[in-house]
Formats: sequence, C-alpha cells, structure tokens
Amino acid sequence: MSSFSFGEFAEKYFKDHKDDLQKHYPGIAPRRLKQELEHFCLEFQINIEDLFESRYVPTLNSPIQRFFDLLAKGTPLEYIREKAYFYRSEFTVNPDVLIPRSETEILVELGVQELKDWQKKTDENLRLCDIGTGSGAIVLSLLQEVDRPIDAIATDISRKALKVAKRNFFNLRYKIQKKSSVHFIETDRLKDITEKFHVIVSNPPYIMKNNDRELVHDQVDLFEPHVALYLNDETYFSWFNSLFKSVYEALLEDGVFIMEGHEDHLQKLGDLARENGLSHVEIIQDYTERDRFLIARKKWIK
Ligand SMILES: C[S@@+](CC[C@H](N)C(=O)[O-])C[C@H]1O[C@@H](n2cnc3c(N)ncnc32)[C@H](O)[C@@H]1O
Repeated sequence: MSSFSFGEFAEKYFKDHKDDLQKHYPGIAPRRLKQELEHFCLEFQINIEDLFESRYVPTLNSPIQRFFDLLAKGTPLEYIREKAYFYRSEFTVNPDVLIPRSETEILVELGVQELKDWQKKTDENLRLCDIGTGSGAIVLSLLQEVDRPIDAIATDISRKALKVAKRNFFNLRYKIQKKSSVHFIETDRLKDITEKFHVIVSNPPYIMKNNDRELVHDQVDLFEPHVALYLNDETYFSWFNSLFKSVYEALLEDGVFIMEGHEDHLQKLGDLARENGLSHVEIIQDYTERDRFLIARKKWIK
C-alpha cells in the first residue's frame, strides 16, 4: 500500500516524466497540469482539494489513472478534457474533429466583417456556408457575432465530425439568435447543395500528405483526424479547382469566399481561384506573417 498523498504522487510524476511532458506539451508547467487535472476531476465529481490531501493508491481503470495514461501517450490536452476554447466559446472536441486553432480566429474576424457589410446592403436573412465544419467552431462563432438572423449550412465529409458539430450547436444555442438556423450536411465540399450564399467560409484540409508532412508536429499527425489535415499531393490542386468551381456557382453576386490555406500553396491557389471566375483575390497573413488566408469575390464587373 502506498503512503503517498496524491499531491506527492503528482509532484513525483511530473518530476519523473519531465522530459516526455516537455516533448509532448512544450513549455508546460506543473501548475497548468494541475489545472487540467482539476478540470478532469470536475467531470467525475472528484473534489480536487480532498484528492490532493488524501493518500493515493494508483488503481487500474480509475479516472485519475486514465488521466495519467492519456498524458503518458502525449494525447493533446484538449482531447483529454474534451473541450477547446475558440473565439468567444468553449467547444466540445474529440479525436473525430480537428482542435480549432487560434489563427483560424482571424478567419472568423474576416467573416464577421463581411457579414456586417452585407447587413448594410440587404434586408433579408444572411446566408452563410461553412465547408468542412469539423467541430463547428467557425460557423457557430460567426452566428454569435451578427444581429441579423443567419441561415447557415455547414458541410463535412465526416459523419462523426458532424455529430460533434451538432452537439456544439446544441450547447451554444442560447448564444445564437433564435431566428438563425444551421443545417449540418454530410457531403463532399458543396456537392448537391443548391442554395446560394452571401458568404462562404472554409478551413479545408490543406497539408500535402507527402510534400508538407515534415513540418507537421508528431502529436498532430498521431492524434488529429487525417481527413481534417491531409490531401493527396497528386490531386491537391484539382481538389481545390473543383472547390473553387462549386464556390463560384454557390455565391450570390457580390458574395465572398474566405478560406484558410497552406503558406506554400496559397499564391498558386489564388491563381486557380481567378481561373474559376473569382476576382479581387487577396492573400492575408496570420500573426506569424505567413500567408494563411485567401479572400475572393464573385463580381459581374471585374
Ligand atoms: C482543417 S479541418 C477544419 C475544421 C474546422 N472548420 C476548424 O476550422 O476547426 C477540415 C475539415 O474538413 C473536413 N473535410 C475533409 N475533406 C472534406 C470534403 N471533401 N468535403 C467536406 N469536408 C471535408 C474534415 O472532416 C474536417 O472536419
């Protein structure tokens, strides 16, 4: 039987696994891990203060042991906690969806601006589409930011991802106008979608499976869904060509498309967007000054 208190056990664990923890969670301090543990305990209604004081006997299959097992594997903290913060909300996440990234918040800001501009130009409900919605982070954030009701469609090729997005819609429903709606549709990009939109947003998979793989962090490759990350090198540009073609068809006159993309490929994707009839193409950088977003418009007069 152990005569360790849990506090002592945790301290020893952090000391013994310091190198692995730093490898998987760069810059992490014991304080942050204690916070994560607190969140984890909250789920299981374990009182953390009592826990730290009490004698600790590691037992197989206990929730606490599960926390340390997931940590030892390098599981992203968001997947352990099943929560990620994005823009102004907390989203449920699991390994079926990408963990929403802070740089994608710039895409939301760009989308808010475009929706607000449309609000001045029309009295009708705004129409928004999110291609590859994942956890729903982008569309559900946008829906919270505009006064006018929005009719939104969010597509994803992954049924499991859509299940998570629907759950997030349910959890955030009180932050979204009653008159707004989101239809979650399982499809490839915009296939069989006949509606037209004022604004289309997308953070599609944009890493070339072979060419760009080297720069992908091991933890990302190991834990996040590959369907959310990678496209085949050989079909990369034809995949985007079809996307731009269908986006052009689905935009209303003066409509705008905002997409996140890979720093090494966005300039070429800008040319492809132009070839598909889109105009006023701009490439926008993220906080690290890397090309990250593409904005393109549908205008009769170019
Ligand atoms: C980079 S993740 C973005 C998720 C979420 N929008 C975000 O920004 O956090 C790409 C998403 O696109 C979906 N996806 C991949 N291929 C797709 C396709 N052909 N059609 C629709 N969605 C697709 C993936 O399942 C994944 O949810």
